[in-house]
Amino acid sequence: MKDRILVIGASGQIGVELTLALRKIYGNNNVIASDLREQNPLLEGTGPYVSLDVMNSEMLHVQVIRQNITQIYLLAAILSATGEKNPNLAWHLNMQGLLNVLDIAREENIKKIYWPSSIAVFGPTSPKQNCPQQTIIEPITVYGISKYAGEFWCNYYHKRYDVDIRSLRYPGLISYKSAPGGGTTDYAVEIYHEALENKKYECFLNEDTYLPMMYMPDAIRATIELMEAPKSSINIRTSYNIAGMTFSPKEIANSIQKHLPDFSIAYKPDYRQQIAESWPQSIDDSIANTDWGWKPQFNLEKMTADMLLNLQANNK
Ligand code: NAD
Ligand code: SER
Repeated sequence: MKDRILVIGASGQIGVELTLALRKIYGNNNVIASDLREQNPLLEGTGPYVSLDVMNSEMLHVQVIRQNITQIYLLAAILSATGEKNPNLAWHLNMQGLLNVLDIAREENIKKIYWPSSIAVFGPTSPKQNCPQQTIIEPITVYGISKYAGEFWCNYYHKRYDVDIRSLRYPGLISYKSAPGGGTTDYAVEIYHEALENKKYECFLNEDTYLPMMYMPDAIRATIELMEAPKSSINIRTSYNIAGMTFSPKEIANSIQKHLPDFSIAYKPDYRQQIAESWPQSIDDSIANTDWGWKPQFNLEKMTADMLLNLQANNK
C-alpha cells in the first residue's frame, strides 16, 4: 500500500516546510496538510489541506480513516514563551493532542508517527555544554514539562503497543519561509527580518545568551532521515538529541553585520531570558550520529548568507 501522510499543525513554522518536503518524496496528493488554521498561502495549490483540531479525537479519527492514513506527523503545540502565558492551555494541547494521536495510531495500526520534542526538556541542573542524551532533566517551563512527559508517553506506546513513534529534540529553529510561533529562540528569526527592513533590532535576550540552534533545511533533513531509517537502527524511543550550531545574540548580529555593516542591535531582556538561561548552550548528538548517521550541514555564517539571500529575494 502507498504511504498516505497526515501532517497536523501543517501551517506552522516547521509544518509548511515539512509538508512541502514530504510532498516531493511521497507525491502531492499523498500528503494531507491539516491545521486549526483554515488555509496557508504557502501551501495553497500544492496538495490537499483540511481544517482539523487535534483535540477533537473523533474528527481526527474520521480523517485518518477517510484519507487512508499510514503515517502521522504531529506538529501542533504551544511553544515555550506562549506556554508561560497560559500554562494550562499549553499542557492540555501538548499532552492531549499527543495522546489522541497515539491512541489512533494504536487502534488503526498506523505504520509510523513523528512527534518533536525540544531542548526545552533540559533545565538549570542539566549540563550547559554538550548536554548528553541521558542526564539530569528538570525543566522549568510548562512547555519543557509537557515535552518531557510526552517523550515518556512515546516510549510507553512503543514498548507496550509497538507503535513506531520517532522523535527529535529540536534546538531553536531558524527559517525564512514561515514565521515562528511563540518560542524563546524566535529572536534568531526576527533579527534577520528587522536587519533588512529597519537596519536595527531590539533583542529580548542578553548579548551573551548562548543557545543550541539549527537552520530549517537541516531540521527537515534530520526529520526525514530519522523517519526513513530502518526500524532496527532506532534505539531511542523517547527523543533523540540533535545539534546544529550554537551562538549568542551578539554573534548572530556580528554575522549579519558582515553583510549589512549599518545594522545595529540593542538588548532589552524580558521574561524569556530566564527560560533561555535554563537551557543548555550546546547539545551532544553523538547517539543520533551513531544510530542513523545524523550530521548538520549549516553553521552560523552559511545560514546567515542563505537567510539574507532568500529574504531579500522574497522582498523583491
Ligand atoms: P508553530 O507554533 O509555528 O506551529 C504549530 C501549528 O499548530 C500552528 O500552525 C497552529 O495553528 C497549529 N495548531 C495549534 N493548535 C492546534 C490544534 N488544536 N489542532 C491542529 N493544529 C493546531 O510551531 P512550530 O515551530 O512549527 O513547532 C512544531 C513542533 O516542533 C512543536 O511540537 C514544537 O514544540 C516543536 N519544536 C519547535 C521548535 C522551533 O524552534 N520551532 C523547536 C523545538 C521543538
Ligand atoms: N524554539 C523552541 C522554543 O523556543 C524550543 O523548543 O520554544
